[in-house]
Amino acid sequence: MVEWGFAPATDLIKDDYAGYPLNMFCVPKHYEADLTDIMIPAGLINDRIERIARDIVQDIIPQENRGIVVLCVLKGGYKFFADLLDKIKQLNRNSEESIPISIDFIRLQSYKNDKSQGSIQVIGGDRLENLKGKCVLVVEDIIDTGGTMIKLKELLAKHEPKCVKVASLLVKRSARNCGYKPDFTGFEIPDEFVVGYALDYNEHFRDLSHICVINENGKKKYAVAS
Ligand code: HPA
Ligand code: MG
Repeated sequence: MVEWGFAPATDLIKDDYAGYPLNMFCVPKHYEADLTDIMIPAGLINDRIERIARDIVQDIIPQENRGIVVLCVLKGGYKFFADLLDKIKQLNRNSEESIPISIDFIRLQSYKNDKSQGSIQVIGGDRLENLKGKCVLVVEDIIDTGGTMIKLKELLAKHEPKCVKVASLLVKRSARNCGYKPDFTGFEIPDEFVVGYALDYNEHFRDLSHICVINENGKKKYAVAS
């Protein structure tokens, strides 16, 4: 596979960062008791994605001008995928050079409550055979242990893409991380369980716009039997 060499900046949120109080921005009433603070407001997510889109396009165009497949990892990646794609399309409309984009989806499951279950299961999506010979940009919501992405990359490699790059909106600074770093990172965050902007806790909180830290009350309220 061809490697693309480029190391864009990542936005680092420090361990002692207190976040924003919930009453500073609009949070749905049904989640007010379940969150500690707002870690990343939706507007800041949007601004960061604008820059990630530029980094990606600047990286890809010199390597591959015949087009890329943007592969959305469902469900958590859907907001980042949709917003990132909008920004890339905006660049495509307004620059001298542009890059044809096609889209694909894959659905994986590896989390119950706030714990990774260790193995990944592909539970839906397009046929991966379609990726043969293509340049693939995987779009993920969060890298925590890194295990899911390593397994996904192994799975994709079996279908012989020309190259694979990974963009993750969040990367957690966690002792459990196996050292994996994506090619493009939105924010490096402290080791806390975050929800919102399509990130869930047992399928709850995807309808929250900001990325927030869940509190013990929320974890208990929405826990499922393991
Ligand atoms: N939030 C939501 N999903 C996740 C997280 C998280 O902090 N870590 C791994 N999957
Ligand atoms: Mg994910």
